[in-house]
Amino acid sequence: MKRIRSIAAVAALAACIVLLSHPRDSTVYGANPRPSQAPAAASPGVGKLATIRSQSGPTWSGDVASVLYKNCATCHHPGGAGPFSLLTYADARRWGPQLMTATQSRFMPPWLPEPGYGDFADVRRLSDHERDLIKQWVLAKMPQGDPAVAPAPPRYDANWLMGKPDLILKVARPFTLPGGGTDAFRNFILPYPLKQTHYIRAMEIRPGTPQVVHHANITIDRTGNLRRQFPNDWQNGIAGMELMVDAGNRFDPDSHFLFWKPDTPALVEPAGMPWRLDPGNDLILNMHLKPSGKPETLDAEVGLYFTPDPPAKQPMLIDLERDDALDIPAGDANFVVDDSFTLPVDLEVLGVYPHAHYLGRDLQGWAILPNGEKKWLVWIRNWDIDRQAVYRYKEPVLLQKGTVLHMRYTYDNSSTNIHNPHSPPVRVRAGNRSEDEMAHLWFQVLPINVQPGAPDPRLLLEETWMRNRLRKTPGDQVSLYNDAAALAGEGKFAEAVSAFEQELNQSPHDVRTLTALGAALEGAGEWQQAQQRFRSAIDAAGTDDASACDPRFDLASSEFHHGQPEAAAEFRTEVAACPEDAEALTGLAQIEIEANQSTQAVQHLTTAIRVDPSFADAHEQLARAYAQSGDLQGALAELEKAAQLKPDDATVHSGLSQVLAATGSLQQAIDEQRAALKLLEDDADGWNNLGVLEARTGQVPAARDAFQHALRLDPQHPQAKSNLARLQSQN
Ligand code: HEC
Repeated sequence: MKRIRSIAAVAALAACIVLLSHPRDSTVYGANPRPSQAPAAASPGVGKLATIRSQSGPTWSGDVASVLYKNCATCHHPGGAGPFSLLTYADARRWGPQLMTATQSRFMPPWLPEPGYGDFADVRRLSDHERDLIKQWVLAKMPQGDPAVAPAPPRYDANWLMGKPDLILKVARPFTLPGGGTDAFRNFILPYPLKQTHYIRAMEIRPGTPQVVHHANITIDRTGNLRRQFPNDWQNGIAGMELMVDAGNRFDPDSHFLFWKPDTPALVEPAGMPWRLDPGNDLILNMHLKPSGKPETLDAEVGLYFTPDPPAKQPMLIDLERDDALDIPAGDANFVVDDSFTLPVDLEVLGVYPHAHYLGRDLQGWAILPNGEKKWLVWIRNWDIDRQAVYRYKEPVLLQKGTVLHMRYTYDNSSTNIHNPHSPPVRVRAGNRSEDEMAHLWFQVLPINVQPGAPDPRLLLEETWMRNRLRKTPGDQVSLYNDAAALAGEGKFAEAVSAFEQELNQSPHDVRTLTALGAALEGAGEWQQAQQRFRSAIDAAGTDDASACDPRFDLASSEFHHGQPEAAAEFRTEVAACPEDAEALTGLAQIEIEANQSTQAVQHLTTAIRVDPSFADAHEQLARAYAQSGDLQGALAELEKAAQLKPDDATVHSGLSQVLAATGSLQQAIDEQRAALKLLEDDADGWNNLGVLEARTGQVPAARDAFQHALRLDPQHPQAKSNLARLQSQN
């Protein structure tokens, strides 16, 4: 029960841009000829001409409406992300010539990836036939055709698209965005109010005023730290672009692109890959807001849809990045950075999120397979920060261990780059402000071909990823810490100890590092030293009870494991200071069970399970407490829950077997004991127990085999010896 926090290095994912000197009207669009914004007057006499239509050419009702509804209306509807609606014939006719120009130049619909360099789902790109239809229709003066054959326009109403959410979170206070000025960046904290863990299969965001929301990123603060850092104004939203979020106790790296744009209907996760919210977690809704000309009030809400099933697959986000190399001379039109990363495991790539700011021009990502073949993952030839998006592959891209991921980004800091925020150009380096640059290529990956019983493959990915970062930025604290935490998670304790010590040199009083170092020392068998570190961590936390929770817990469990009597008092202190700490409650209950105090144990375990219903150890201990107080049915129910939560745990199955035997269900008891032995084959006690159950149900030959098996594993096993002797004397 050692706890090591890992720090999410995902800050960059929340990255975006504050447009400082980039008024909307003056935006020019890369190599695309800019369509004129002149409205209806551009097509004089349309009313008359519309009635004279060619017999064979495309009409709005027969051809064009369905193309616009399918490809354009998601944004071009009242209240949508596009600047005008395209839901009626009158709308389409009014904008006709611009529709043609914008689609001929491929300025619309917005879609950056080059076709043929990554096979993406939901590609937003018109076919040549569709572009041609629009062109022919405009050239023929936009005939309406027979309104009776027109498709019904899609509906966009204010209701939740996926039906009523299971939970709706609202910002604490509405936020008013001024009508003018620069773009704003706001982080709204939405505390998760429930007392139990839930798995989220889908999320919908309703910002209240979608036209001013450019996009939003959601991160999960597992510790509530951010809210504590801004006790007086978190309700108003915190200004800023990027936040560092503590990832909490479990190794559970952020694994989903929770990236939203106004044309995103809902973020639905693939089957088997929900994300998790625990009691005490906060959702951080990081919004990029663009003033609309008049003050607008944002009253965002987030709808969450639950699934009862915990994740069956464990994806992870990793990135290639080269911020350290970004130092772009003024006027340089061809500044290149690259990065690469050799995969330590087999995996599937599910999606990709390229990210640069205004100077980014050509963004490439590819893989070199172990056989030397080059496989493109994404290529954007005309990057536009305003059109950034997450791209999901149609089919997962399988990459074997040893594959090298590559990124290569080219920046244009000359005055011919019409996105350049500086005129004249200036030297630009990496940073979080819009006029700084970034070089990130994020991937959502899913490790595959994992050997049963092997450590979580994401730990090895994390380790390799952090080493890659350290190679580029030696001494970077977050990378050092996460590398050390991954090593400890993989059971490489000696390496973890030296990595944590290296980090501690930089910040000797860091509670988190002291605690993690203690945990690694404990893992390496140096428990006296470990306990010293935990005590230093408690001292370093001072009066801050919340941050002393972890070292107290680790100290108490170390004392418990080494049979020190102080453990009980230590656990009590911790439970008093951190009453919602499920692990501490369970640790204390374990001591109480051993002291035959089952009533107190039941109380503490019930609280632990209320806080975290998915905490299998608490169910297991509660079963022990019930069994101790004679409540076998209660024990059975808890063990069944524990078995659901960790079906591969042999002790849970043999515990079930014992309780079933005590209630007289002998055949079921035999089945559970066999299940336990499948998971832990060389357990001599287990084979002996199986033999006893079989003997009691009259299965004598089977019982004899079981006792003999136990004796093969442990020739001195006393019970197996006497049981076998008794069996043979009876026959
Ligand atoms: C993902 C949302 C989205 C989709 C889908 C979309 N548009 Fe747009 N459209 C916009 C936005 C936003 C603008 C405003 C310019 C900008 O910010 O890029 C725009 C602007 C335009 C303009 C005005 C261009 C100018 O002169 O500024 C035209 C014309 C247009 N869209 C046509 C279309 C057509 C035709 C389609 C479908 C084939 C389409 N759009 C699909 C979001 C979208």
